[in-house]
Parts: sequence; structure tokens; C-alpha cells
Amino acid sequence: MPGLAIIGLQWGDEGKGKISYLLSKDAEYVVRFQGGANAGHTVVLDDRELRFNMLPAGSASGAKPCIASGTVVDLNEVIEEIELLKSIGINTEPLISKNASIVLPIHKKLDDIIEEIRSREPIGTTRRGIGPAYSDKALRIGVKIEDLLDYESLQNKIRLIEDLHKLPVGDIKEYVKLAEKLYVNICDLEIRLNDELDKGKKIIFEGAQGTLLDIDQGTYPYVTSSNTTIGAVFTSCGVGPKKISEIIGVMKAYTTRVGAGVFPTELKGGEGEILREKGREYGTTTGRPRRVGWLDIPLLRYSIMVNSVDWIAFTKLDVLSGLKRIKICLEYDVDGETIKIASPNVRTLEKAKPIYTHLDGWPNLTREEWRKISVKGWDALPENAKIYIETIEELLGRPIKLISIGASSGMEVAK
Ligand code: IMP
Repeated sequence: MPGLAIIGLQWGDEGKGKISYLLSKDAEYVVRFQGGANAGHTVVLDDRELRFNMLPAGSASGAKPCIASGTVVDLNEVIEEIELLKSIGINTEPLISKNASIVLPIHKKLDDIIEEIRSREPIGTTRRGIGPAYSDKALRIGVKIEDLLDYESLQNKIRLIEDLHKLPVGDIKEYVKLAEKLYVNICDLEIRLNDELDKGKKIIFEGAQGTLLDIDQGTYPYVTSSNTTIGAVFTSCGVGPKKISEIIGVMKAYTTRVGAGVFPTELKGGEGEILREKGREYGTTTGRPRRVGWLDIPLLRYSIMVNSVDWIAFTKLDVLSGLKRIKICLEYDVDGETIKIASPNVRTLEKAKPIYTHLDGWPNLTREEWRKISVKGWDALPENAKIYIETIEELLGRPIKLISIGASSGMEVAK
């Protein structure tokens, strides 16, 4: 069956954009199924960096972009990214589910207000209005894309939202115009996707954020407002679990996190700074520096378990080059108990003492040397880099089939 899901296994920013682009090359459709413009997925083509916040990054390959019901849509971003695709010669418009929710100006304002109220314990949101848009949806007053095409329904929703929040929703005339412009693409996406899957068409479901930011399975309350794990594909797209044949977990060679929240393997100073600079670990959406740390096997085991991951795509291996030794957190000690698989419960993680193993690193390589490796394949990788990958495969019990060794498309090896 031709449905493939891509899921982040850490706190987002694992490099899902590049992996989605690679896997979408022979796909018919690529679908964003949760979140909104808080995501920042990057594809690098011929040294040109293309950033997607709202459309799936896989659409840079020419696969038809889709935006499913469970997303919160920023229409201005959609329009900008249609232009971005045009600039690389792809003339397409996304199919958008009638049921997708709309992020309104009031939601961004509410994001600011909530962070101010939390002042001592801010979440560090992207301020893209994600949480407020999802909470209005849960309150059954959220504006759906089809409401923008129905004056009466829209006015009714606006009244409810303004009455509740005691704030104006903001100017949304522009959104109505954009929805009218995209009118022909607004559809019953669920039926379309199921039909196409039944015909054998390949569809990529591109996850945003990562498992540890899932509102139910993540480090609550320091999470995003949607489900980022595999179940969201089914609930958001109306596609049953049996239609997904492969679940691909994407993980980075080390761990990063943007915003607040517990991070057991965090590196403060020294090596953390080196990795941040080398890996250009600054938020795609907000530009904030990302917190950096070693790989965390107990949390990765949890992510693999809750998503039923079949295989792993591994990114940014090249960034670890030049380190004398690389640490991997094998397990935690929590109040004297050994934890091998960790549920992302904040209170437990705050007490977790990581138990590390040390592996030897490998020397720095030039970009040209990495490029040659990408041509020659797995065998050409530095011996200690192969040991690092194989150790992780063994610890996680899943094959690592694709290894990214540079931001650009083409800089990867299959295993
Ligand atoms: P929100 O999704 O903007 O509400 O932010 C909630 C938390 O999720 C914050 O810690 C953000 O930094 C984080 N977050 C949201 N989207 C992403 C992402 O795409 N990558 C990494 N972190 C994210």
C-alpha cells in the first residue's frame, strides 16, 4: 500500500523537510496533517534554501501539496509558499480540506497574551497563534476554511469568538479574498486521499514538530497544541491505519529543543555551542537559538514505540565530525531506578540522571569529501561514523536506512 508517514522522533527540527522531499520525488501527493505555520521545513536545492511553514516541504519535488482537516491554516503563508513553488518552476496550488481551521489575527494576539500571563514559566511558543486556534476549535467556535466562503456562518463565528475573548478578531477581509481565490482547491480531502490510495497512488504524510512536542505524548505543558504522532494522520486525514504501509521516524544525530521545558541530555556551553554553530541550530520560524544535547535513547525508544516506526531516517551526521568523543545516553537513573524507555513525563524527566556511553569521534571532513561519500555510499563513511550509526540501530531496534550528511538534496547515503 502506498501511504508513507514521516514523523519526527525528537522535539522537532529533525530534518523532516529534506527527508519528505526525497521520499516525495515519486509521490503523487504530499500532505500536511497537523500544526500550522509554527513548522519550518527546509529543502536545499542547488544551494538555494527553500523554507516552508504551511505547505509540505515535499511539494518542492512536484508532488501535489495538501492541507488536511487537523491543521490550523495561515492563509497568507499558503499564498507566499505557492509563489515560492512557482519560483522553482512548480505551478501548483494546494488541495485544502473544507474542515481545516483558520488562524485569525486574534489568535496571534492571544498567543502573546498567554505568554505574558505565564511570564515566569513561558512555553516559548512560536507566537503563530497555534494554541489559541486549536483551543477555539475545541470550543466549537473555530473558523473553518469553508466558513470563509459563507458570510452568515463567518459572522456568527466571529461574534462567538469576540464575545468569548473580549477582543476584536482583526481584519479578515483579506482572508475571505484569499479563500475565494483558492476556492477550486477547497475540497473533501478525505474522500480524495482515500480514492487515490485505493488506486495505488503514492501519498506522503509529512509530520510537523516532533513526538516529544505532542500534546498527549510529549513533555506537557512544554509542547505544541496538536498531536504530532502517527495517530494524527488518521484523525486529520480520515485515512485508516491500514492504508499506511510504512512509518518513517526522522531523528537527528544529536538532540535539540527550542523553547522551554525539560531536556535531560542538554549540553550547556562548550560542545553545545560548537554543535549549535556547526549545525546552524537556530529556529527556521523564529530564528531563536536551539538548545543542544546528546542523543537520548530512553526518549527515542518511547517515540519509536508510540509511532510504530518501521525504519529511521537519520540526519546531520556530518555535524558531529571533529568531536573527539561522542556521548549517547543509554538509560536514566531516576531515584535509584534504571529507566531504559522513558515516558516524557516532566516530573520524572526532571529527576532523570542520564547514564552515558562514550564513542570515539571521527575527523572533520571538507564539504567536497562529504560529497564524494554521498556518491560512493555507506562503505565510504568514516569507520567511527558507521559504528555510531550501528550502535544506535542496535539500541533502538530499528534499521537506519537513510543517512543525511549535508543540508543539500543529494548529500545523503542509503544503508
Ligand atoms: P507553538 O507550537 O507555537 O504553540 O509552540 C509550542 C512549543 O513547540 C514551543 O516550545 C515551540 O518552540 C515548539 N515548536 C513548535 N513548532 C516547532 C517546530 O516546528 N520545531 C521545533 N519546535 C517547535
